Amino acid sequence: MPTMIVLHCPTVVLATAPGTSTQPNRPHRLTLFGSRPLAPKSEPSAATTEPTMITLNINGQKHDVDVAQDMPLLWVLRDVVGLTGTKFGCGIAQCGACTVHLNGQPVRSCVTPVAAVGEQSVTTIEAVNATAAGKKIQQAWLDLDVVQCGYCQSGQVMSASALLSTTPDPSDADIDAAMAGNICRCGTYVRIRAAIKQAAKGA
Ligand code: FES
Ligand code: FES
Repeated sequence: MPTMIVLHCPTVVLATAPGTSTQPNRPHRLTLFGSRPLAPKSEPSAATTEPTMITLNINGQKHDVDVAQDMPLLWVLRDVVGLTGTKFGCGIAQCGACTVHLNGQPVRSCVTPVAAVGEQSVTTIEAVNATAAGKKIQQAWLDLDVVQCGYCQSGQVMSASALLSTTPDPSDADIDAAMAGNICRCGTYVRIRAAIKQAAKGA
């Protein structure tokens, strides 16, 4: 099993609840809000570190990968398949940078064992604009210049696209619930909300 490392991440410090400690040298864990599934319901029954040939359906293409069954999907996407648009942030399902879709549902690929993916369809930021919702979201992101440093934005777009695909006219509460687990160190939250609303209008 890979070693879990808790990072002293300023992104996480910025996101702690009011009144909680923000001392920089302590690792922080967040309470996330939202009702969307962030990890697959089924875990591998017998996760193993032995390399195994697994066929993944990523962005509409089959990929045969020879990896340990408990390797996180994020590692497979970035280091084996070469799709580096999905980002590593915290590695512990706390920041949302690694969000991809499994059968259209947003999941945190950093904590999704590749063996749990099975035949589900994986969609990454590289292909999200092939969906109607993803295309609208990306256009709205461009129109409103949402991005600052950009590091979190793959995950933001994936979560927003998943929201729009199931909730074409999201309320503020819908947006809060869907996006609460996606942290932005640059604080682009106001533009993210505006972009989701613009995309919902089909603009
Ligand atoms: S890298 Fe932060 S949630 Fe996956
Ligand atoms: S962390 Fe920089 S744009 Fe979100």
